[in-house]
Amino acid sequence: MTEKIVLAYSGGLDTSVAIGWIHDATGADVIACAVDVGQGGEDLEVIRQRALDCGAVEAYIADARDEFAEEYCMQALKANSLYMDAYPNVSAISRPVIAKHLVAAAKKFGATTVAHGCTGKGNDQVRFEVSITSLAPELNCIAPVRDLALTRDKAIDYAERNNLPIETTKSNPFSIDQNVWGRAIETGFLEDIWNEPTKDVYSYTDDPAFPPVADEVVITFEQGVPVAIDGEKVTPLQAIEQMNRRAGAQGIGRIDIVEDRLVGIKSREVYEAPGAMALIEAHKELERVTLEREQARFKREVSDRWTDLVYDGQWFSPLKRSLDAFIDDTQRYVSGDIRMRLHGGRATVTGRRSDSGLYDFNLATYDEGDSFDQSNAKGFIEIYGLASKQSTARDEKFGNGPTFGDGSSLNAGSES
Ligand code: ARG
Repeated sequence: MTEKIVLAYSGGLDTSVAIGWIHDATGADVIACAVDVGQGGEDLEVIRQRALDCGAVEAYIADARDEFAEEYCMQALKANSLYMDAYPNVSAISRPVIAKHLVAAAKKFGATTVAHGCTGKGNDQVRFEVSITSLAPELNCIAPVRDLALTRDKAIDYAERNNLPIETTKSNPFSIDQNVWGRAIETGFLEDIWNEPTKDVYSYTDDPAFPPVADEVVITFEQGVPVAIDGEKVTPLQAIEQMNRRAGAQGIGRIDIVEDRLVGIKSREVYEAPGAMALIEAHKELERVTLEREQARFKREVSDRWTDLVYDGQWFSPLKRSLDAFIDDTQRYVSGDIRMRLHGGRATVTGRRSDSGLYDFNLATYDEGDSFDQSNAKGFIEIYGLASKQSTARDEKFGNGPTFGDGSSLNAGSES
C-alpha cells in the first residue's frame, strides 16, 4: 500500500508546491489538511480545491475556530500571556491546535508522517513537531522547505513548469501568519531593524494617528473569560472578533519588537493583535480588583513561565498542564465588568465593578465610613521593619553603615 503523508496546507505557494515535491521525493500520497483558526482571507473551499488540483489525493478542512478561541486564546488571556512582555503568542498558540488536527487527519487516513511548511530557522517547526510527537509518538515529521531543499525559487520554478493553479508572480515581501488572536509579519525590509514599518504591513489595525471618535466598551468576564460585550452575550470567538474590529479601528495592538527565538536568533517581528491586547488589558485590571495580593504576585511568575513554555512549543507538556491548573484556579473570582475607552492606539480602563472583588470601599476611603483602624498601622510597621533595622545596626558595628553619595557616613557624629 502506498504510504500516506498529511501536509499542513495553507493554500500558499510553498505548501501547494510541497504536495508534488513530497510525492516526487518520497513516493507517498499527500493528504492536504487546512485548519481554520480564524485566519480569514481566502475561502477554504477554494483552498481545498487548489490542494486537489495540485495533486493531493485528499484535501481536508478542519474548522477549529471555536476550539482555538475557547481552549487556546482564552487560556492565553487568563495567563495575560505576553512573551518578552510584548508579544501575545499569536502564532505560538495556534501551532498546537493545528498539530492536533493534523494528527487527527493522520489517524483518519492512516498516514505515517506529517509534513509542514516551516523553514529550519524559526520557532514554528519546533512547535509543530514537538506537539505532533507529544500527541502521537508513532508519527514522523518532515518539513519539505527544510528537509527536502524546497527553496522559494525552486517553488516558483516547479509551479510554473507543472502549471499549478497558484499565483507565483504576486510575491509578498513578508512572511505572514495570522489567526483570530492576531497577525505576525516578518522578513523583507523589516529585517533592517532601523526601518519603520510601512502602512502596507498592517491589515488588522488602522493608523492610530488618525483615529475615529473614541469608542467606549464594557466587557463582562466570568471566571476570567469574556461572556458579554456591552451587555450582549458573546462566545469567546465572538468576543475576540468584535474586539478585533473595534480596537483595530482605533489602531490598538500594534507591536514592533526584536524577539528572542528558541533557536537562538534575534528577529524583528511586527504584530497586530487589537482584540487580544484590549482583552488582556481589561482582564489584567479585573485581576487587580479580584486577586489577593500574594496570589497575584505568584500568578505573574506562573504566567511568565507558562508564556515561555508555550512560546517554546511545550503546549502539551506536563508542566504546562500543571500551570494551567494553577491559572484556572486563580480565575475563580475573576468576574465582573470592565469599562474601557478605545482611542488612538490605546485601550484605557475607565471603570470596573465586581461582586466577587476584594476592593472594599470602607477600607479604602479617606472619607466618612472608614472601617480601617489606623492605630494598628504603627505596631505593624514596627515589626515589619524589625529585621532591616537589626541588620543596619550590625552594619554600623562593622563600619559598613549607610553613607551619602560622597562616601561620608550618614550616622557619623550622631550621638548614640
Ligand atoms: N516570531 C513569531 C513566533 O515565533 C511569529 C512567527 C510567525 N510565523 C510565520 N511563519 N511567519 O511566534
